[in-house]
Amino acid sequence: MIKRNFAVALLAAFAPFASVSAGDAAAGESKAAVCAACHGANGVSTDVNNPILAGQYASYLEFALQSYRNGSRQNAIMSGFASQLSDDDIADLAAWFSSQQGPLQTAERP
Ligand code: HEC
Repeated sequence: MIKRNFAVALLAAFAPFASVSAGDAAAGESKAAVCAACHGANGVSTDVNNPILAGQYASYLEFALQSYRNGSRQNAIMSGFASQLSDDDIADLAAWFSSQQGPLQTAERP
C-alpha cells in the first residue's frame, strides 16, 4: 500500500513534465513536408546552410522552434516558419525529426 501510494505520488509529480514533449511523430511527419525543401527528406539535410534535424533530441528541437517563434533566436527564414506553428505542431515536428535516423550521434564511452 505504501509502495502504491509512492508510485502514484511519483506519477503525479512527473506527469506535468512528461507532457511537455508528448508530440505525435506520425502527425509530425505530415507537418514536416514543408521543412523537407531545406532540411532534407526525414531531416537529413545535405546543404551545409541547413542544419540536420534527424536524430536530434526532441527537447532541443522544441526549444529551438519556440525560440524562433518568440524571437529569442533570430533567423529571418526560421522565424517565418516558426510563427506559423502551434505548440502541438512544434511538439509533433520535434517528435518526428528526433525519431528519424540521422548522422548525429554521441561518442561512445571508452
Ligand atoms: C527555406 C529553408 C528552410 C525551411 C523550409 C525550413 N527551415 Fe528550419 N532552418 C533553416 C535554416 C537556414 C536554419 C538555420 C538558422 C539559424 O542559423 O538559426 C534552420 C534551423 C532550424 C532549426 C534549428 C536547428 C538547430 O540545430 O539549432 C530547427 C529546429 C528547424 N530549422 C526546424 C524547421 C522545421 C520544423 C521546418 C518546417 C516547419 C523548417 N525548419 C523549415 C532553413 C529552413
